Amino acid sequence: MTLYENMEQRDSIQFLCEEFRKHNHIDIEQSEKYGVKRGLRNADGTGVLAGLTLICDVVGYEMKDGQRTAIDGELYYRGIRLNDIVDNCVRENRFGFEETAWLLLFGNLPTKPQLEKFMETIAMARDLPAGFSEDMIQKAPSPNVMNKLARSILALYSYDDNPEDQSLENLMAQSIKLIAITPTIVVNAYQVKRWVYDKKSMYFHQNKREYSLAQNILRTMRPDKIFTEEEAKLLDLCLILHADHGGGNNSAFATRVLSSSGTDTYSALSAAVGSLKGPRHGGANIKVTEMMEYIKAGVSDWNDDGQIKDFLRRILNREEGDGSGLIYGMGHAVYTKSDPRAVILKRNAEQLAEARGLDKEFELLKRVERLAPEVFYEVKGDKKPICANVDFYSGFVYKMLRLPPELFTPLFAVARMPGWCAHRIEEILTGGRIMRPAYKALMTPRAYIPLDQR
Ligand code: COA
Repeated sequence: MTLYENMEQRDSIQFLCEEFRKHNHIDIEQSEKYGVKRGLRNADGTGVLAGLTLICDVVGYEMKDGQRTAIDGELYYRGIRLNDIVDNCVRENRFGFEETAWLLLFGNLPTKPQLEKFMETIAMARDLPAGFSEDMIQKAPSPNVMNKLARSILALYSYDDNPEDQSLENLMAQSIKLIAITPTIVVNAYQVKRWVYDKKSMYFHQNKREYSLAQNILRTMRPDKIFTEEEAKLLDLCLILHADHGGGNNSAFATRVLSSSGTDTYSALSAAVGSLKGPRHGGANIKVTEMMEYIKAGVSDWNDDGQIKDFLRRILNREEGDGSGLIYGMGHAVYTKSDPRAVILKRNAEQLAEARGLDKEFELLKRVERLAPEVFYEVKGDKKPICANVDFYSGFVYKMLRLPPELFTPLFAVARMPGWCAHRIEEILTGGRIMRPAYKALMTPRAYIPLDQR
């Protein structure tokens, strides 16, 4: 479909836009005057409190004398440090994403039998409903896996016998189904994208019952279904790191806003996918990869700090990159000195980069991470600490796992599903009020002019 059928229509859209521009300028500087909490942020940079949660805590600064003081970031799932979850899984040499999903959903670590049963339940819920792939994924394919995922989640409503029931039992059943089925949808959607848009072969491998979610993703993605234990554990680690990020992150908040209206699970979670796709949110992971391609092409000596800084300066001034003025993968609403997820990913990337012959690229990535804050302060004159966020290194890790860029943000969605579901359940059971902030209206009342007098 093209939105413009002919040149005449294109001209008329231009005319409509000119008309729009004449009447729709808002001076954003006025926000302060009216006490607008832009970005739902208080004047001191902290987020506006929108609710209470038991699910996740993101700690990025300390308040001292009313000022935000930079500290190393910490992330807690149900009160347990992310680093402790990761370290224990590594020590016990086992997969941890399913355990993390249990922890986020139910609030406590599972016992061994509970975890085994949960993994079995997930394994049984992995398959798509009969006809779903043919009717919902293969028909009307999308070049973008995130859009296909959002549409598929919305479509699951029609396949659920009891979609509107908001009892805890039903919300749990829907959550487990969504956690289990999302990877299958994402891989199917990617395979169809390969076939239709890239003119390459597509593979529909069956999930394996006894495999963890990470193992099944690698199995169904690879033509030969072969992967190493090390690769699967690294993907599992990525999934753990992305599983939740508090109620205030854009997609969890979207889930909560929609859930507060009383809408169904599929409507709320397809909106979460739409939010995550944005380049300021989860979509940043693919944007980092694109940005690094610009930098690799535009900087002749990757060891020259001056050249790299110059390029970053031009990105911030919208003269290079995608024109957004953003250095992707840098900055965070809460973290100041460091994002613990980025620290863990960087450590793991380091171990693998040399073996994969990607050490030069990894060195360049580290340089960009080191130089970006300096350039940021120079250009913006803002002394606020800025650090690499989770998206800075995740694409590089996925690349080392031979996963394609089209799957970077969808994998974030696969991982975030337990977090979104936990926030939806919490919002429904404890929120109890529709979310409805206010907007200051800037216009003054005026008379309606009859058509023949304009
Ligand atoms: N590149 C360019 N400008 C940035 C920036 C970056 N990486 N990070 C922050 N800024 C800008 C913001 O746009 C904002 O500008 P404004 O005052 O003109 O509106 C200013 O610096 C202060 O922003 P801050 O309050 O620190 O961050 P935020 O909460 O508004 O935004 C992000 C947080 C994550 C959206 C922002 O850092 C960003 O866009 N980063 C790049 C995209 C990215 O990596 N997203 C993944 C997040 S996990």
